[in-house]
Amino acid sequence: MTQALNLTLYERLGGAPAIEAAVDRFYDRIMSDPSLAHFFDRVSMDKQREKQKAFMTYVFGGPTNYSGKSLRIAHQRLVEEYGLKDSHFDSVVSHLRSTLRELKVAPETIKEVVALVETTRNDVLNR
Ligand code: HEM
Repeated sequence: MTQALNLTLYERLGGAPAIEAAVDRFYDRIMSDPSLAHFFDRVSMDKQREKQKAFMTYVFGGPTNYSGKSLRIAHQRLVEEYGLKDSHFDSVVSHLRSTLRELKVAPETIKEVVALVETTRNDVLNR
């Protein structure tokens, strides 16, 4: 079911160009948020691009190799060394919501996306 919902989202958004627009806007928002930008300080540009692509691929239900386990590992250092916690996760979700609103995604669809992202919370926060 999740996959079907997200294929619909892909279609509604208009495929790869729309995803790229979403990635750019989403990332601009994160890097302009002083409570989040520092998490990316020591991440290389290549890694950042990978991260953005991987995140959006996940969010839009595209083909993804990211299991809960790899999300856990990817964020482990951020939790242990930088204190990544619920408030940061909430802010990322909020920036994602705003990005999708800007792109005129239907409110019900935004709800579905947020529900999907919520399923990663415990893995991302390593608990
Ligand atoms: C909301 C759900 C989230 C999802 C689905 C997600 C997804 C991902 C993915 C797929 C990667 C790449 C993993 C890899 O292959 O290396 C990644 C890395 C990363 N994420 Fe997230 N992420 C989420 C939340 C967050 C939050 C809340 C933050 C902090 C503000 C964050 C910061 C980072 C950073 C800094 C990296 C790079 C880590 C490194 O290179 O060491 N993510 N994320």
